[in-house]
Amino acid sequence: MDRDLFATVDRYVEGLFIGTDAALEAAVADSQAAGLPAIQVSAVQGRLLHLLALLVRARRILEIGTLGGYSTIWLARALPEDGRLISLEYEPRYAEVARANIVRAGLAERVEIRIGRGLETLAALAGEGAAPFDMVFIDADKDAYLEYLQWALRLTRSGSLIVADNVVRRGVIPVAGEDGARALGIQRFNAALAAEPRVTATILPLAGSKGFDGMALAVVH
Ligand code: SAH
Ligand code: DHB
Ligand code: MG
Repeated sequence: MDRDLFATVDRYVEGLFIGTDAALEAAVADSQAAGLPAIQVSAVQGRLLHLLALLVRARRILEIGTLGGYSTIWLARALPEDGRLISLEYEPRYAEVARANIVRAGLAERVEIRIGRGLETLAALAGEGAAPFDMVFIDADKDAYLEYLQWALRLTRSGSLIVADNVVRRGVIPVAGEDGARALGIQRFNAALAAEPRVTATILPLAGSKGFDGMALAVVH
């Protein structure tokens, strides 16, 4: 019932503001054909990420969790010609699919995918003395969200935006039969974000084709 309603609203917004988009549709189709899980952000959520990146005039974006590069494409399209997006992915096979999707979207120059465990590639990034990111999108393994937040705070500057996907569904609203690690990880992340003096944050509840969920938004002081 609710799900039908959410999906109807989502289709309405998508029809108005997105319509058909060849590169994004091909990215979804090829990800599915390659057997990747269909857990990318929805089109409407992708559009929100794109709008947020424009809002902060992002020139450098960090994404944690690439999958097939769907959210990557939405984010990278908000970058200026000389902007950069670094996306971190654990599965080499997913990264390969993402790479092809990003090339087809004409974004190869702006996007770099780094393969490895997020916590390790983040430590390496910090070790390189990477310039601060204007925006960080956290969307990988949920039990590490709190650690990803700590890294995001290290790798940003005053005025940067930190966004985290999936902070409501299966976190605050538990799913029967599912192990608690994911829910606990999300709950810890949300509590830490709310108590974090270095940011002003909130959770944006989102209902759409992926059901009911939310994204956390935090601006760094
Ligand atoms: N941002 C994508 C969806 C990401 S799904 C989109 O909306 O289009 C989560 C991704 O995080 C998966 O591809 C998964 O392989 C990856 N992941 C899981 N654990 C990880 C880890 N420890 N380090 C990096 N990536 C990880
Ligand atoms: C799922 C959805 C996500 O957006 C994600 O990042 C990870 C998993 C899911 O539906 O299982
Ligand atoms: Mg997600």
